[in-house]
Amino acid sequence: MNKFALFLLVASVAFLGFGCGSSPSTSPGTTTGSGNTFQSLANQGKVVYSNKCVSCHAANGQGTGVGPAVWGANYQPGIYNGSTLFAPNGQAMLNFISSSMPLNSPGSLSHSDAVNVLCYLLVQDNQVTPSAAFDESQLINLALK
Ligand code: HEC
Repeated sequence: MNKFALFLLVASVAFLGFGCGSSPSTSPGTTTGSGNTFQSLANQGKVVYSNKCVSCHAANGQGTGVGPAVWGANYQPGIYNGSTLFAPNGQAMLNFISSSMPLNSPGSLSHSDAVNVLCYLLVQDNQVTPSAAFDESQLINLALK
């Protein structure tokens, strides 16, 4: 098994493990079919970003001397300094944010904060249609470009 396949396997096992302990459909702000759009969750995610991410990733997402860019013309999701951090899909990016960010307190985000801040990054990076109805299964199946 190559490293990438192994990573996908580990990522999906980790995700399934998460699914058992928490119930995404009951997390505030992330309920599918409750009238949320990617933009409405991004608005909540912007607050998370301002409080917990901006110090290392900058207000315009271009990064600082500490953290890399997280959106923008030159942002390639999952690629950092030429190596692969996570596979370019919504689930792997959500897993990465949930387990590794913020770097100074990894694993501290609630499920809904992780989803909302991911929506914010994806709206800023034009990866999703902001006005589209939010659906978590669509988010995790999203192929990132
Ligand atoms: C203390 C500095 C720091 C903070 C705060 C921080 N990050 Fe990061 N972030 C980093 C660094 C450094 C990396 C590079 C990868 C690594 O070292 O794990 C990174 C990588 C990332 C990546 C992957 C970038 C890529 O190339 O695909 C994402 C996405 C990300 N951070 C999101 C967040 C979010 C969301 C928050 C807030 C909840 C956050 N970060 C808070 C330092 C930080």
